[in-house]
Amino acid sequence: MSPSVLIGISGGIAAYKTPLLVRLLVQSGIQTHVVMTDAAMNFVTPLTLATLTGNPVCHDMWGERDRPSVEHISLADNADFAVIAPATANIIGKIACGIADDMLTTVFMALRCPVLVCPSMNVNMFRNPIVQENLKKLEGLGYHLMEPESGYLACGWNAEGRMPEPEKIAQKIHSLMGPKDLAGEHILVTAGPTEEPLDPVRFITNRSSGKMGVAISDRAIARGAKVTLVAGPIRVQPACGVRHISVRTALEMRDRVMDVFRDATVVIKAAAVSDFRPTVTETEKVKKEEMTPTIVLTKNPDILAELGRIKREDQIIVGFAAETQDVLQNGRTKLRKKNLDMLVLNDVSKPGAGFDCDTNIVRFLHRSGDEEQMEIMSKDKVADLILDRVRTMRTAAQYQRNTSA
Ligand code: CTP
Repeated sequence: MSPSVLIGISGGIAAYKTPLLVRLLVQSGIQTHVVMTDAAMNFVTPLTLATLTGNPVCHDMWGERDRPSVEHISLADNADFAVIAPATANIIGKIACGIADDMLTTVFMALRCPVLVCPSMNVNMFRNPIVQENLKKLEGLGYHLMEPESGYLACGWNAEGRMPEPEKIAQKIHSLMGPKDLAGEHILVTAGPTEEPLDPVRFITNRSSGKMGVAISDRAIARGAKVTLVAGPIRVQPACGVRHISVRTALEMRDRVMDVFRDATVVIKAAAVSDFRPTVTETEKVKKEEMTPTIVLTKNPDILAELGRIKREDQIIVGFAAETQDVLQNGRTKLRKKNLDMLVLNDVSKPGAGFDCDTNIVRFLHRSGDEEQMEIMSKDKVADLILDRVRTMRTAAQYQRNTSA
């Protein structure tokens, strides 16, 4: 039987986008049911949603008097997953406080399945400490939250508060409902750049948004792994459940990675680590008149190479390489020199690959000598493919251990 998703719609302007979310879910073979508040009906009609879902829309607490089943309970019982999109400050507050005074809040009170909440409201409402506290409470209770996006808001502000696009919400739902094939693994991911300070205001860094590493940790957590993310300064927010350790310099990243390494079954090093640091870091800002035009640098440890030297038989290590010339040759050399199980090779001079974008074009180089060239695809899709390969390697390593024991 196809899975069933319950979609709650509360009364925000972003409700006009929810029919598209419903259509995307229906198209992917999911059974959908909608429960909406009276306020939501000012923005989108039950007829639209009933037509798209092929099911009656539930909104009236007292309209079920002559029906045999208790509608709100059977809706809640039959849902495999539930989402509220958009979730207004009001509905978030009610759910966080256990209020069930309409059909939506009553149905959601009776749910036992995972719930995704997509807040959408004016930026100042979103930043209000009461709303933030309610969201934190929901997160603590195991609700999944989707960060609102920044952009033009109906109230005229250009700031965070927009409901993410339906495609993104649908993708999130699919990932949260997907198989937990990485349960039992502890995946250590590194992401982002490092910063190597010259003085309190100046530093040397590498180009990296952290999006690729965060995509890997988000997909790994969705697939049931325990995930530790050691990341330099990044602006992307890792998914709920990821243990996020923030670092600044390569030396800090090395120390934190080493702390976790023993317990990890898999390491994926997507970070763009700075190869050098200034030999001297001044504690006070250096005035330009006193500055020499030469910076003396010291080499940073190669964290990945160090892991390659100390790794256990059963641990899988995946490295990344960002290249602009002799791409394949450089990649093959790194795979061998750093003793990796797999290298994700990235020609960052190609449009659609590498820094700051949401897509990537990669080639997987395997220890066995096999190589796989991938098409341009989203970083989430690349992340899933890397994790698929990791799973295969871990299964093979475990099989080998069992047969040789
Ligand atoms: N890496 C690392 N520690 C460093 C430098 C790199 O762990 N000090 C890791 C990166 O996280 C990545 C891989 O090594 O997984 C390759 O990084 P890259 O910058 O492409 O290569 P380098 O080894 O630094 O070599 P080069 O800069 O000469 O290309």
